[in-house]
Amino acid sequence: DTIFILNGPNLNLLGQREPQIYGHETLADVEALCAAEAGPRGLKVVLRQTNHEGEMIDWVHEARHAAAGIVINPAAWTHTSVALLDALNAYEGPVIEVHISNVHKREAFRHHSYVSLRAEGVIAGLGIEGYALATRRICTLLGRG
Ligand code: DQA
Repeated sequence: DTIFILNGPNLNLLGQREPQIYGHETLADVEALCAAEAGPRGLKVVLRQTNHEGEMIDWVHEARHAAAGIVINPAAWTHTSVALLDALNAYEGPVIEVHISNVHKREAFRHHSYVSLRAEGVIAGLGIEGYALATRRICTLLGRG
């Protein structure tokens, strides 16, 4: 089985973008951390990033037949996208929402998440380690803990 690790806008710049907030590690490091959690539990990870909302929605639709669970950092779409929430509501497997930064310590517009209405759980402020913990939780929810 496969876990999708989906990343929204500007996260292609992870490691270069506002490193005081998001750190120096890259999405390649995220992928390695997630694979290290999932692999020994018999699961594969597929990590993707897009700056295009429709592409993200298409990937959530694809997950309906291609992924047993989803770890998602929706980035700015967290706070804006009813369309992404609707796509996730059409997905049946477990979903964990991840934010690298502690969104609750930041601007008020980051305090609300549409995706949280769907997610089994939310991790914020633990840096990229949050992705590893989220992947591990998906494994547990799939009975592969
Ligand atoms: C983020 C937090 C969002 O508010 C922001 O728009 C991002 C990244 C995070 O990982 O901390 O792009 O999702």
